[in-house]
Parts: sequence; C-alpha cells; structure tokens
Amino acid sequence: MRHTDASWKLNTLCVHAGEGIDEETKALRRPIHMANSYEMPADVGELIKTISWDHLDRWHYTREHSPTPRYLEERLAMLEGGEDCVVTASGVGAVAATLYTLLGAGVHIVASEVCYTATQKLLGLHMPRYGVDVSLVDTTDPEEVRRAVRKETRAVYIETPGNPIVSISDIAAIAEIAHSVGALLIVDSTWSGLVTQSPLALGADVVIHSATKFINGHGDSLAGAVIGPRKLMNEIRECGVVHLGACISPFNAWLVLRGSITLPLRMQRHCENAMRVAEFLQSHPKVKSVRYPGLPTHPGHQVAKRQMKGYSGMLTFNLHVGVPEHFELLKRLRLVTHAVSLGHDQSLIMYLPTGFYFHDMVVFSEEQKRRYTEIMGEGIFRLSVGLEDADDIIDDLRRALDAVP
Ligand SMILES: Cc1ncc(COP(=O)(O)O)c(C=O)c1O
Repeated sequence: MRHTDASWKLNTLCVHAGEGIDEETKALRRPIHMANSYEMPADVGELIKTISWDHLDRWHYTREHSPTPRYLEERLAMLEGGEDCVVTASGVGAVAATLYTLLGAGVHIVASEVCYTATQKLLGLHMPRYGVDVSLVDTTDPEEVRRAVRKETRAVYIETPGNPIVSISDIAAIAEIAHSVGALLIVDSTWSGLVTQSPLALGADVVIHSATKFINGHGDSLAGAVIGPRKLMNEIRECGVVHLGACISPFNAWLVLRGSITLPLRMQRHCENAMRVAEFLQSHPKVKSVRYPGLPTHPGHQVAKRQMKGYSGMLTFNLHVGVPEHFELLKRLRLVTHAVSLGHDQSLIMYLPTGFYFHDMVVFSEEQKRRYTEIMGEGIFRLSVGLEDADDIIDDLRRALDAVP
C-alpha cells in the first residue's frame, strides 16, 4: 500500500487510503485483479504464510481474499477508525457473516426490533432455528436494552438510523449497557453514510455497512463491510465469508473504491438537500408527518445531534389521505424515481403501506404492531434524497403533492 498517514482527515483518506501506484505499470490507480486463483510458493514456510490470516498481502484464492477487495478494506478500516475490515458481497452478507461467526446454540443476542427486513428475518426467524436466543426490543429506549441484556448476552445489535422509520438509537448509552454484561455492541451504520457517524469512537465494537448505499453512492454495485478488532475480523473472514461464501467480486470492490473517493462531498450534499426537503414537506398542507433526524420534531433529534455530524439523506413522510392516494403521488413524480435502495446519486422514493410492512416483519407482536401503526399511520414514503439541486427535488414533490386528489 502507498504510504497512508493515520493522522489524515476524512477527505484525504477517501482520496488516498487503499490507493497506490501499481508496481508493475506505475499506473496511478491500482488494477482490478479478477483472477480467482494465485500461484502459490513451493516452500512450506512461505506457503504457510500465504494461507495465514496474518499475511493479508499474500493471496491464493479469491473467496478467501484478493487484492482489490483488500484495498477497499484498507480504506474502510481507516475511515471508520477500526483495526481492520472485511468486505462482503452485500450488506446482508456482512450482517450474516457477523451473526454466523458470533452466535450459536444457547447464545443470547439483543437486537433492534426495527431494522432492515432481511436482518430482522435473520435474527427473528433463522437464528432461533439454530438455537440462538434472540430478544428484539425497541433500542431507541436504552432502558429496554438494559432490561433485555443478561450474562449470556454475547452481543447487542442496533441499526441507527434505523430502516425504515429513521429511528435513532443512542450508541454511547447502549455500548455502556452491552459492556456491563461483557457483550459486544454491533452497529449497522449504513443509513449514516459513514462520514456523519463514528460508532467505534462512541464505544461500539463492530460497525457494519451496506456499501451498496452511500459508500458506493452511484447505484451500480452491491457490497458490504464489517469493521472492528483485527482478531474478530479474521474470525469473520474465515467463518462468515470463506465458509458461508458471500465474498465480493473484485470488480464490485473496485467500483466501491472509486465511488467512495467523493463520499464526504456527497454526504454534505445529501445532508443539505435532505434538510431542505424535510422542511419543505413539513410546511406542505397535504403532508401529515415527516420524520427526519435533523428536524427538532423527530423524537431522536437530541441523540442524533449529539452522535451525528449531519443527519444524512434519509427521511420518511406520509399524507393526510389514504393508501390509494399515496400511489397517486408516485404516479406524478418525474424526477424522483419510485425504486428500492438508497444513498444513490439520484433521489429514490418507495411507498411502504403499514399492512405490507407488518406482513414482512413476521415476528412483530400485536403490541409492536400497535406502536408502529402510531408512527407510520397507514403507510410511509421512504425518501432517499439525492444529489440533484434541492430546488428541483422540491419542485417535483410540490407539483406531485399539489395534484394528489
Ligand atoms: C440498514 C441496512 N442494512 C443492510 C442492508 C442490506 O444491504 P444490501 O442490499 O447491500 O445487502 C440495507 C438495505 O437496504 C439497509 O438499509
């Protein structure tokens, strides 16, 4: 790797960490190594080094690790301030690799009841099939976490901001609770876009990202990342990636490396645009409620203000009308695209009827459904505010809102 100075700040790290001059050609960009296999040394001592996790600059098979993903790992570890990083085929690949490595029969985990659907199903449906004891609680209230942890708790898992209702959990307070019983705190920080939140500095032990979203930022690849202590990262690399198989394609790793160069610039714009869009929506008479952590009306605003350096690009809102009219709004949008995913250059919107959400969140109790109906009403739009001119995004929303019956 080219010299990287640990004292460099975020913008510099995004440009230089993991980058370097290609030894063979002197190219200023490191190449994409698509080979799936590498020549191995015939010497026993050298061979052992090649297959050991202590020598991550030696390669033999791409499912184990390979140069281009390693460059991305170097960058993301530095950006999050962690010892090391493991990149995976997708965000869910990162979540699954981490949970599979840490959990087992008889082990207890406490997790956010509101988190990305695949994560919630991994925790609420699949982990219990293997004998893991899972408590899903409302982690926006640290006292619920305190009540749920016990001496067998191996990990506390939170997503903040949380998908889909932009819920905010207090990382520092929950880290203290997790550590009081010897558990690790894992934070899925995807919705923060990395640069607005530093979970490790706030006391978390492991950070997860779907790099498919803001980190890549251009909507053209899937990727995931886990960042934390080197020993644990090597365990996750072996148990969670090599044995489960969700290794990243070197080409996708290269796309994420390239996309992430502009991450701080893009996040600044996402934050500014989202704030303006949230304020506009809050002022529109047809809008019933808006949830954006930057608004003082968001229940987690004070915690977000303390633990984030910007409120990222995700918000939700709904209208005073019923479900069918919400689809009328989608039909009238011209700039903002009706699509899943988030953190792309372009603004993306998705309507989530509450009944549909509950159908998906299979493990919700009647009490949980009641609580989330209060927050979501009949449904919510999830808006990922993009990098377009804020005026154009607002004009598109205004025109569509004005036309909704
Ligand atoms: C918070 C969060 N974590 C993980 C994921 C999964 O990411 P991927 O689609 O890259 O597997 C998502 C996807 O939306 C997400 O919002």
